Amino acid sequence: MILGIESSCDDTSAAVLCGTEMLSNVIASQAVHMQYGGVIPELASRAHQQNIVPVVDTALKNASVGVSDLDAIAFTRGPGLLGSLLVGVSFSKGLAVANNIPLVEVNHLQGHILSHFIDIPGETVPHPSFPFLCLLVSGGHTQIVKVTAPLEMEIVGTTIDDAAGEAFDKCAKVMGLPYPGGPVIDRLAAQGDAERFRFAKPSVPGFDYSFSGLKTSFLYFLRDRVKEEPGFIEANINDLCASLQKTVVDILLGKLVRAAREFRIRDIAIAGGVSANSGLRKGVTAEGERRGWRTFLPPLKFTTDNAAMIAVTGYFRYRQGEFSSLSVAPEARIEN
Ligand code: KG4
Ligand code: ZN
Repeated sequence: MILGIESSCDDTSAAVLCGTEMLSNVIASQAVHMQYGGVIPELASRAHQQNIVPVVDTALKNASVGVSDLDAIAFTRGPGLLGSLLVGVSFSKGLAVANNIPLVEVNHLQGHILSHFIDIPGETVPHPSFPFLCLLVSGGHTQIVKVTAPLEMEIVGTTIDDAAGEAFDKCAKVMGLPYPGGPVIDRLAAQGDAERFRFAKPSVPGFDYSFSGLKTSFLYFLRDRVKEEPGFIEANINDLCASLQKTVVDILLGKLVRAAREFRIRDIAIAGGVSANSGLRKGVTAEGERRGWRTFLPPLKFTTDNAAMIAVTGYFRYRQGEFSSLSVAPEARIEN
């Protein structure tokens, strides 16, 4: 019985899993950042402090489990915002030491990838077989990861500048859309013409990505058009979103297809906040049908930050006896 705790960015979440089976998963999001157009770290850690006790309490109650039933507490050690991580790490340590429960640290990125192994009671959830490739796309990371065992992962490609989610969020901001921009672009894109505008794609060697050029060319493109026609953005918002989304998805899929071919791997998964994007989900599914992949799209509730993915990763670490001492500290930057 594992309690998972996630507090790396702006969602406070707690989940209880029995092995890989999810008994509860509670998420408190923080609306306070919306008015600022991005996450304000100091406000995030304060909101985590307010949320963490009721969120953990609700997760235990929803699972009908008491603290004394827990075999381990799994928490996100990093990467993420230091002040946010600190709340989850300190709370986990306090609960562990007060109740004599082992602690298990979890890498947030491994959590996103292993969200494909969360079992939901009453549902059949297909799991990828090893080795599989996972396209991990979030607000802070864009990676192609080769996964050979639950805890054996190798990053074969990564972004050399911005993450895919960041590209969505920054381009949304340029268009005057609210934060986070990814889901808003996704929604508007559904009514737009994706072929209307063309944006340059980067040329980066290997399986690495780059998104900063797209952001800049998008900004200059809009600036020039708005000069000629002041209402240009508002009049073309759906087509702009659809064309931008198509460009991001094409860039992501191009490298993923090449990696799948190079490593001869046909189990292909996506994970992270941007894996909620309907264009990416359709695109991966279509490539999979064309190339004979088995594709794995996470349920929408596991695409963004949640503690169930931390608990399932904690379970795999627990099985291997990988525990953390009370001196463990959060890490803002760690790779898989
Ligand atoms: O994984 P996540 O919740 O947090 C990080 O670890 O970064 O990902 C958040 C990112 C944001 O950039 C958000 O705009 C993006 O995921 N996102 C989306 C969609 N839903 C969330 N991007 C595109 N389309 C979506 N439907
Ligand atoms: Zn995340």
